[in-house]
Amino acid sequence: MSANTPPPSAASPMYRLHPYWYIACRSSELRAEPVARTILGIPLVLFRDETGSAKALVDRCPHRNVPLSFGKVSDGKLVCGYHGWAFDGEGACRDVPGFTGEPNHRTRCASSHAIVEQQGYIWVFMSAGVTPESKPFEFPHMDTKGYTVVRRDLEAECSLHAMAENALDVPHTAFLHGGLFRSESVRNPIQAVIQRFRDHVEAEYIGEPRPTGIAARLLSPSGGVVTHFDRFFLPSIIQVEYRIGDENHIVLNGACTPVSETHTRMFAVVTANTRVPAWLLKPILLPIGLHIFGQDQVVLRLQTQTIQTFGEEDFASTEIDLLGRHIQRLLRLAEAGQLPDSDEVVATRDITMMV
Ligand code: FES
Ligand SMILES: [Fe+2]
Repeated sequence: MSANTPPPSAASPMYRLHPYWYIACRSSELRAEPVARTILGIPLVLFRDETGSAKALVDRCPHRNVPLSFGKVSDGKLVCGYHGWAFDGEGACRDVPGFTGEPNHRTRCASSHAIVEQQGYIWVFMSAGVTPESKPFEFPHMDTKGYTVVRRDLEAECSLHAMAENALDVPHTAFLHGGLFRSESVRNPIQAVIQRFRDHVEAEYIGEPRPTGIAARLLSPSGGVVTHFDRFFLPSIIQVEYRIGDENHIVLNGACTPVSETHTRMFAVVTANTRVPAWLLKPILLPIGLHIFGQDQVVLRLQTQTIQTFGEEDFASTEIDLLGRHIQRLLRLAEAGQLPDSDEVVATRDITMMV
């Protein structure tokens, strides 16, 4: 295909990693009404059964395919809004109004997905009808004494890969977010060590000075040693871990949920134990963080639109594009069912870069 003749529509690939956990919504969002969410392009409906347990069904009534989320919850059953068929949390049909026979039959079942509710989030296993052997990711330090937890639900018009790469991409911070975090004018050489594991990849940055932006100045006015790790865990977790000086430990986690090829949500959880008390820090850092994410949202939308216009991704890279290619590789291997068996370090690489 010529670069001059873009096809009418196409997008970034969406890696269909189904046998994995993704966050559908916060626990607090799921109350008496059914909640509709789309993950990996599949519409789901969530509801609570009579015991209060969260349940997830594919959002399609087996009768005439009206979305079940158009219905209501009654006595812990999800009742379709068209003819009133009622489904339990496993998707079995428990009532067909006006029908005198046995309502439950395998052809009248809705597909169900396993759910785990933990740390205030509802996670859905995206292979239908499967009892998973794995567990969802646990956000670290949520219950550790001295740590403050900040949650934000974010979204951007981009693929999962684009969102994860952006969140872990160091070179753009001085440029797109110049002055807020790192500075374009002051650059220092650092060493990055990449370690690839079976289902995650990690970059450790060695010799990084305290960032010059106002956020880092607040945290550690006197400078201090910086320890910095960036990590990506399959299928969709990003993690940035900072220690700045002796007194500041900050972990930014983002559980990404691919809604579609061009729409990804991120459930961000920041856990921090800092020199400056959290009540003082939060009103200052939160608007900065949201402003930074707003800049990322703009650039990610533009990236998606350009890829759509040209019909495909066509990326050039240097070795300081540290994690994006490794993330893509993990996603590809996982989709193809080709992840290695052992969790030993697969490869290590040293890279020098200026930040
Ligand atoms: S379409 Fe759902 S009950 Fe008929
Ligand atoms: Fe950014």
